[in-house]
Amino acid sequence: MKILAICGSPHRGNTYEVLSKIEEDYPDIDYKLLMLGELNLQKCIGCYGCVLYGEEHCPLKDDRDMIIQEIMDADGVIFASSINVNHIPALMKDFMGRLGFMSHRPPFYGKYAMVMAVCAMFGAKQANEYMKGIFTTFGFDVVSCAELGVATKTKKEIAWNQEKVTKAFNTLIDRIKQGQKSTPTLRQILHFYLFKTISEYNKEHYQADYQYYKDKTEFASDRKPSFFKKMLAQLMVKNMMWDFSKNRL
Ligand SMILES: Cc1cc2nc3c(=O)[nH]c(=O)nc-3n(C[C@H](O)[C@H](O)[C@H](O)COP(=O)(O)O)c2cc1C
Repeated sequence: MKILAICGSPHRGNTYEVLSKIEEDYPDIDYKLLMLGELNLQKCIGCYGCVLYGEEHCPLKDDRDMIIQEIMDADGVIFASSINVNHIPALMKDFMGRLGFMSHRPPFYGKYAMVMAVCAMFGAKQANEYMKGIFTTFGFDVVSCAELGVATKTKKEIAWNQEKVTKAFNTLIDRIKQGQKSTPTLRQILHFYLFKTISEYNKEHYQADYQYYKDKTEFASDRKPSFFKKMLAQLMVKNMMWDFSKNRL
């Protein structure tokens, strides 16, 4: 089993330590840790080329595609972040920004993921909720979360963190072993119908989205959405489009 850990902390600190400990504790797993801060990953300049024309049109030539390939090759991914002023640090956010086109055209349907946030006291929960939401729109099946706190560094705190990491990581690897997929979230289905509909309204503008969606009639996944979620998502998109149409279509 191949697991990729992506560390969004800008240095080899507590988050790195926790991710390294997983590697030590699970020697049978083919484990790779990428420190975003040590890669050549530039900040998105907002040209919108990736969204409109395709990700290959990004003018920044750096390690983005190497990271995407590593994700493709992995059975599961850990997205781990430190907390800086109650949220993910800019490094993690910049990384997500460079993958932003994936919210329009998710390439990772069904790929298993875990999110982990390491704070002193506060911020890990909202950071995990945010990361889970965004990586879900990229297609990931986020099956576990760990919120860690390192304020005291007592033995008790270390054991408390260790228990949470082990539980979340075991969930990740069990789900991979079983091949058990979650049903798509409402947000994933909503994105599917919304971007498909918008790309059909404006084929020339959203060229890459149009190419991606034109032959897809269903949410592209082996994770079948429930009838209720599908209907609700379609209704929400109809409502949004009706709202849009008053001023923007
Ligand atoms: C500039 C800065 C801001 C921080 N803000 C918070 C915060 O809002 N809440 C919190 O609980 N911890 C905060 N911390 C503490 C870090 O989240 C904590 O030390 C964490 O372990 C850092 O992970 P790292 O060592 O992997 O970078 C902050 C640390 C720094 C350097």
